[in-house]
Amino acid sequence: MGKRRRHQPPFEVEITGLGKSGTGLGTAPDGAPVQVRFAPPGSRLHVVPAGRRKGMWQARRTAMIRPPVSVVPPRCGQFALCGGCQLQELGIEAQRVARTNKAMADIEAKGTSLADVQIHPTRFTDDTYNYRNKVELSFGVSRYLSEADHAKGFAIDGRFLGFHAAGRFDRVVDAPRCEIAQEPLNAVLKATREVLLPEEGPALYNVRDNTGFLRHLLLRMGVTTGEVMAVLYTATPLSNAEREAAMAWGEAISALTIDGATVTSVQWAINDGVADVARGATEHLWGEERIHERLGDVIFDLSATSFFQTNTAGAIVLYDTIGEALTSESRTLLDLYCGTGSIGLYLADRVDTVIGIEEREDAVQDARRNAVRSGVTATFTAGKVEHHLSSLAVPGAAMVVDPPRAGLHPKVALALATADADELVYVACSPASLGRDAAVLQAGHWKLTDLWTVDLFPHTGHIEMVGRFVRTNR
Ligand SMILES: C[S@@+](CC[C@H](N)C(=O)[O-])C[C@H]1O[C@@H](n2cnc3c(N)ncnc32)[C@H](O)[C@@H]1O
Repeated sequence: MGKRRRHQPPFEVEITGLGKSGTGLGTAPDGAPVQVRFAPPGSRLHVVPAGRRKGMWQARRTAMIRPPVSVVPPRCGQFALCGGCQLQELGIEAQRVARTNKAMADIEAKGTSLADVQIHPTRFTDDTYNYRNKVELSFGVSRYLSEADHAKGFAIDGRFLGFHAAGRFDRVVDAPRCEIAQEPLNAVLKATREVLLPEEGPALYNVRDNTGFLRHLLLRMGVTTGEVMAVLYTATPLSNAEREAAMAWGEAISALTIDGATVTSVQWAINDGVADVARGATEHLWGEERIHERLGDVIFDLSATSFFQTNTAGAIVLYDTIGEALTSESRTLLDLYCGTGSIGLYLADRVDTVIGIEEREDAVQDARRNAVRSGVTATFTAGKVEHHLSSLAVPGAAMVVDPPRAGLHPKVALALATADADELVYVACSPASLGRDAAVLQAGHWKLTDLWTVDLFPHTGHIEMVGRFVRTNR
C-alpha cells in the first residue's frame, strides 16, 4: 500500500459504528478510520479533520447531512459541548445495539471468541434520563463555547459552574442542570448557582494560576431513601466575605425542601491542593455526615468519597444479573474488588459467608459497617487483590470479580485461571479488559458460557457486562 497523504480536506462520512467514549466511527476518503464526537451511528456527516493519531483521523462534525433512522432530539441544553452523553440523538434501542456491538467487537479483538457464548438481550431500567445519583461540578472563570456562540460574540470569561470540557482543563461547560442527574440534585445545583454565582459572590477558582476560592460542588443522593448530600469544596478563605459566603450557601442549601427528597447532609470542605479534584477536609457540617441507600435488604452508608454505583436502579438490575449468573450451591462468596461490599452484601442471603477484598481502606470500612448493619457474616480485607493471592484459594467458592477499567492484574488473572472455585462471574466496565482476561482464564480451567449486557449509563458510550465462566475440569 502506498504512503497515505497526511493532508485531508473536509469530507463527508458515513458513521458505521462507535469509537472510544461514545464517539462515532467511519472511514475517511483515504481509507483510514475517522473518529468523530457527537456522531450517531447510521448518520452521514460533513466533518473537518482535526489531526491524525496512530493511523486514525480525529474530525469535527460541521453538519449532519443525513440523520440516523432512529434520530431523536437531544434533551440536554449543553449537548455537543459537554461530551458526557454523546449519543442523545440516537433512539435508546439503537444506542444499545451500537454499544453492545462495539463491546462484543472489543472482546473478540482481544482474542476471546464469542462464537459459542450465549449472548443475552441487554437489560436496562425505564429511566433513560435523571438516573445519576451523583454529580461533580467545577466552578470556573472561563467557559467552553460552541463555534456558533463564539461567533455571536458570547463572552468566554465570567462566573460558571458546570462540567469540564473534554480536553480543556481550564474551561467548564456551564451547566444550569444535568439531564441525566436525579431531579433533586438539579434543584440543589440551581440553588447553589443562585447563591454563589452572582457577580458580587466570592472569587471562583482559576486552575491556570491556582487562585480563587470556589472550586467544586459534589451532589449525591440515596435514591431509595430520598436523602441528598451537597458538598462545597473551596480553597482556604482569605477574607471574612469568603467565609460568610460559604456559610450562607450552607444555610440556604440545608434549608432546602425538594419534592420527595430531603437535603440531610451539607458540607463545606477545604482543598488547597493543586490537583483539580473534589476532595478536602470538612470545615463545617450541617446535618449528617453520611446519607443512605437501600438495595434489597441492605442499607449502604455513603460518605462524600464512598464508591457506589452511580445508577441506583441500574445497580439493582446489574446485581440481580450477577445473582442469576451464579448458579452453583456455593456456600462462600468471594467478592474481589468489592468497593463498599455492595455485590457480596446484596447476594449474601444465598451463601453462609462473604469474603471481600478491596484496595481502598475507606471503602473497606464502609463495607464492614454495611455488613454489621445488615446482619451479614462477612470478612473484608483492605489491600490489592494481587497481594492476597493465597486468599483466592477457597475450594467450592463462588467468585465474583469486578475490577476497574484496567481489568485484572496479570498475576490475579493467572491465579484465577486455575483457582479451585466452583464458578466465576466477571463484571466488566471495559469489554476490552474482559476480552483480554477471558483469554487467560480460558487457557486455565474456565470457559466463558454466557454474557449479559446491562445499560447502566444511557446516552454515553458505556455498557456494563457480566460474564459467566464454568469449570471445564469437572
Ligand atoms: C468497578 S469498582 C467495583 C466496586 C464494587 N464491586 C461495586 O459494585 O460497587 C472497582 C473497585 O476495585 C478497587 N480496586 C482497584 N484496583 C484494585 C486492586 N488492585 N486490588 C483491589 N481493589 C482494587 C477500586 O477501589 C474499586 O472500588
